[in-house]
Formats: sequence, C-alpha cells, structure tokens
Amino acid sequence: MTTISIRDVWKEYDDQVVLERVSLEIEPHAFVLIVGASGCGKSTLLRMLLGQEQPSRGEILIDGTPLPPEPGPDRGVVFQRYSVFPHLTVRENVTLGLEFGQAPIAGRLFGGARKRAIAEAEHYIELVGLEQAMDKYPSALSGGMQQRLAIAQALITKPKVLLLDEPFGALDPGIRADMHELVIKLWQDSKMTVFMVSHDLSEAFYLGTRLITLDRRRNRPEERERYGASITHDIPITRRRENRHRGIKLAEGDVL
Ligand SMILES: Nc1ncnc2c1ncn2[C@@H]1O[C@H](COP(=O)(O)OP(=O)(O)OP(=O)(O)O)[C@@H](O)[C@H]1O
Ligand SMILES: [Mg+2]
Repeated sequence: MTTISIRDVWKEYDDQVVLERVSLEIEPHAFVLIVGASGCGKSTLLRMLLGQEQPSRGEILIDGTPLPPEPGPDRGVVFQRYSVFPHLTVRENVTLGLEFGQAPIAGRLFGGARKRAIAEAEHYIELVGLEQAMDKYPSALSGGMQQRLAIAQALITKPKVLLLDEPFGALDPGIRADMHELVIKLWQDSKMTVFMVSHDLSEAFYLGTRLITLDRRRNRPEERERYGASITHDIPITRRRENRHRGIKLAEGDVL
C-alpha cells in the first residue's frame, strides 16, 4: 500500500507563483479528487506527482522516498484529451505502454517477452471493455472508447498511483456514468492511489474518498501573480454515493 507525502510544495513559473504551501498526507488506497477554478494549478500539481515538473520548493515522497524527477512505471496518467498514438491499433497502443516500461531504451520487446506483453495488453483491454476493438485504430473509436484505451495504457504498468486530469470532461453524460463505474471498479480491485482532477463537484463527491479544493487565499487583483493557490478545503468523503446530488457550495464566486 502506498503513502504519499506532499510537504510544503511551491511551484513558480518565472515571476508567477502558481501553488504555495501545499502540504498533504495521503493515506493508502485513497481516491483523491482535486477541484478548483480554471488556472489555479490543478494540472500543475498532477504533473509534479507524475514527475514531469519539479516543485520550486518543498518535496513529494512516495512511501517515504523522494519522487524520482521523471515519470516512471509506478505512476500512470490519463489526460482530458486523448493521449493515445493514432498510428497504432488498440492492442499496439497498450502493448507499447508495457514495452516502454520494460525496454525503455529500445522501446520494443522481442520473442517470448513480446508475446507475454501482448497477452497482458489484451487482458487490460478486456478489463476496460474494449475487447471488440483490439485491431482498431483510435480514429475509429468514440471519445469514451479512446479514454478507456488511455486508461488501459496507464494501468498496464501496474502503477501505484493513477493520475487522471479531467479524463471524462469531454464525454457525454451517459458515457461519463459508465466511466465512473469502470474507474471505481478498477480502483476497488487494486491497491492504487488515485488523484483525479474534476470540474464537477457531484462527480467529485461520487468518486472520491477525499476532496481537496485549491484556491488563492489572497486574491487581490493587483498582485494576482504573486500569490499561488493552496489547499482551502480537505474533506473526507465517507458516504460517497449518497453525496451525489447534495450540491455543496464551497465559496462565493467559485467557478467549478
Ligand atoms: N509550463 C508552464 N510555464 C509557464 N506557466 C505555466 C506552465 N504550466 C502552467 N502554467 C501556468 O500555471 C497556472 C496553472 O496552470 P494549470 O494548467 O495547472 O491550471 P489548472 O488548474 O489545471 O487549470 P484548468 O482547470 O484550466 O485545466 C496557469 O496560470 C498557467 O498559465
Ligand atoms: Mg488543468
């Protein structure tokens, strides 16, 4: 089981402070939902957890060890827009996820290792319900199917941490509901910690075990760039499904 410590993390780009004083202790097998106004630094926080960006100050520990300064197989990621390779089939896209993990230099596996990788890819493709589309290219898939593919690709390295950056924002409501059930099942059947960014509070309360809101505590327009967002609410969610339609308002003027 994985624990994550975010300790007094700041992120600055040139003169702009995006995040300040972000500290979180994440318990094993948490499903953390992050909400906050557009531009407040949600994706930036996720990219730091991925290792794609480094904190300007502070540190992030996974199981007590500092996060390596690059993405690795212990962290999977799914973005809002489809991040799969258009020139590869569903089977090839997911196999590649494993090949990059196991053969990072050549980016390819051969012989028995490749056969095993393909069999494993097929297993994950079935898990996300795409078994009918093994040989299709992404352009022949719907938006929801492409996100299922991206999830299979992220899961195949058996990450300890799954990072989801508004993965369902572009999907129709019916398809979103299906994706919610899929993600809950994948999380329940694993030991993964999930961080998910959402603009939708009802989605957040439905999926999460913990809700984090990011906002600027000091919000004077003339010094907007000087102060970053930090955590304004940290709410444990215990009776998640009953929260679905509760409609909680966080602060005056919040755009969520
Ligand atoms: N690589 C970068 N270089 C400079 N500034 C950046 C960089 N990445 C993000 N920023 C700035 O950091 C701020 C936060 O961006 P971020 O993408 O994390 O916001 P967000 O909360 O994910 O917004 P949204 O809800 O619109 O996705 C923005 O002002 C953005 O312009
Ligand atoms: Mg974002």
